[in-house]
Parts: sequence; structure tokens; C-alpha cells
Amino acid sequence: KTDEHADLYEAHELMAKFYRHLLLNTEEGSEALAYLHERGFTNEDIDRFQIGWAVPQPEFTVNVLQKRGFSAERMEAAGLIVRNEDSGRYFDRFRGRIMFPLHDQKGRVAGFSGRAFNGGQPKYLNSPETPIFHKSNLLYHFSAAKTAIKKKKQFILFEGFADVIAAVRSGFQQSVAVMGTSLTEEHIRQLKRLADQAVICYDGDKAGLNAAFKAADMLAQHDLNVKVTVLPEQLDPDEFIKQKGADAFSAYITDSSLTLMAFKMDYLKRGKNLRDDEQKFRYIEEVLTEIAGLKKAVERDHYLRRLADEFSLSLQALQEQEKALFLKKR
Ligand code: CTP
Ligand code: MN
Ligand code: MN
Ligand code: MN
Ligand code: MN
Repeated sequence: KTDEHADLYEAHELMAKFYRHLLLNTEEGSEALAYLHERGFTNEDIDRFQIGWAVPQPEFTVNVLQKRGFSAERMEAAGLIVRNEDSGRYFDRFRGRIMFPLHDQKGRVAGFSGRAFNGGQPKYLNSPETPIFHKSNLLYHFSAAKTAIKKKKQFILFEGFADVIAAVRSGFQQSVAVMGTSLTEEHIRQLKRLADQAVICYDGDKAGLNAAFKAADMLAQHDLNVKVTVLPEQLDPDEFIKQKGADAFSAYITDSSLTLMAFKMDYLKRGKNLRDDEQKFRYIEEVLTEIAGLKKAVERDHYLRRLADEFSLSLQALQEQEKALFLKKR
């Protein structure tokens, strides 16, 4: 039963090797290699993450797999090749893209993400859902990060794999990424077995903040201690590291990560003019709702005092209002 899909894994492993060879050792691959170097990916990154390049020719993968006796139907099911409905001919799914192997929980290559690097669309082309690849269950770099996550009891969660690669280069082995999808219960189940602290380091743009807000709540609901790193200037982690260096990133993660409630307060403030009474009261109400959701009385008290200080309000008034919200929640 476990060997049911052995051929699919085998084909992925084989192609990952080919793509790597094409990237590193061929003249045609040099443009892709130059792109990676220009972005700050080192040869060590390329080795560690088995990065490769797929040729633009439409029947390269088809031929490699056929020569080795893989069934075309199975390889289509694996998402490596695609059948043209009209001609019935097979051609390669990934053409002229930088290839990032996607490893499953056991460290087997189960899919690929191919990045266009000269303006092609879409930016990333991923393996489709297959018997061995489920995008919304997969955490990039999870199997390789397990040891570090377990040791540190902590993981750092990113949006994209370029961010993971840059973070690992900067010394954060405990890095994983969702593949641009929402965090799922399955992701959390995998992570929670190894860690009790989550650091969310999503892109610093609006989409990233919104996604971080959702992910933070989900992780906290599963009793993980959550911290959130909000990067400045709308940078994503990979861009931050490229612009400011690994040491600056390291310092930022360590010193500027926010507690969950501090992040929420910061998040809820955005886009509001707090000198406008109406918006200010709305902000306070939103924060009180979050405070009412905290499990520990000490924490509720702590943030109520902070809010009272910040807006020169009486603690008693805030407590009263929070209590009403608290009772509504339970
Ligand atoms: N993604 C995807 N398909 C796209 C765009 C994004 O699958 N067309 C996924 C990828 O897994 C990507 C993640 O969403 O890593 C985050 O998206 P984005 O921030 O746009 O990409 P980056 O990781 O920043 O990639 P790059 O730096 O190469 O642009
Ligand atoms: Mn749950
Ligand atoms: Mn993004
Ligand atoms: Mn990004
Ligand atoms: Mn990026």
C-alpha cells in the first residue's frame, strides 16, 4: 500500500536531479543560474534546496521519463506531463522555469513549483493536486526543519519558499512556509507536535498582514504561543534580507517580533484616525473584543491597563465594557 505511488516519487526524484544538472552544468541553464545569483541565492542554497531549471523544449521531461519506462498515464497523474486533448500527445508541464522541488513530510519530492524569471506568467506554476501532492497540506522545508523545530520548540512561518531559503541562509533552520495558501488545520497539526512557539513572518504588505492576522488567531487557538514579525516598508522577508542583510534580519526577528495582542492592536489601528472620536471608540471596542477572548485573567488585566494608559481612560470603564463583551463571548 505504501508503495502504491512509488513510481510517482521515483519520477520526481529523477527529474529533480535532471533539472539541477541542467541549471548547474549547461550553457542553456546559465541565464537561470545568473537570475538566482542576482537574487542572492548562493550555490549552497541551490544544493540544499535542490533547485533546478527545466528547459523550454516541450518534450524533454516526456522523453526522459519514457526512456526509463515510466507510464505516460501515471506521469500525467503525477502532474509532470500534460496530455493535449486534441492531438493526444504529451508535453512537459514545466518549461523554461526555475524548479523548486516540494518535499513532503517524509522528505520525498512530491511536487514542483516552477518560477518564471523572464516575465512569463504565471509567476509560479505548481504541480496540480495529485495522489502524492496536496498543496494546502504541504509546508515547504518541513521535513528538513523538523530537527531544528523540535530543538528550539519554535518554528518560523513564512508565506513563500524564497523567504524560507533566505531565512535558512541567515541561520534560521526552523523555517517553513505555506505555499501562498491559507494556513490549514493540517499544517498546524504537523507543527504542533514539535513546537510550542510560532513566529509568523509574512510579507509586510497588506495581503501579508491580513493573512498573518488570520494565521495568528488559528495558531493561538491551538494553544501555541504566537509572535508576529511585521516587516517594514512592505518588504517580504527575502527582500528584507537582500536589502538589509542577514544580521539585520536576525536582529529584527529577535527584537521586533510582537506578542499576539500587541500585533492585533497594531493591526487594528491601521487605516484608522484615532483623533476622530468615532474611529477611536471603534478601535477600543475592537481591542476590547480581542482582550475578552484572552484565556488568562492576568493577561486581560495587563492589556486593559495598557489601553487605559494609551487613551487616558478609566480602567473601571474599560473593565466594565470588557466584561460585557466577555460575557457575550462565553
Ligand atoms: N504563489 C503561487 N503562485 C503564484 C504566486 C504565489 O503559488 N502565482 C505562492 C508561492 O508558493 C509563493 C507564495 O505564494 O512562494 C508567496 O507569494 P509571493 O509573495 O507573491 O511570492 P514570493 O515568495 O515573494 O516569490 P518571489 O520572491 O520569487 O517573487
Ligand atoms: Mn482545530
Ligand atoms: Mn506576497
Ligand atoms: Mn513575497
Ligand atoms: Mn519575494
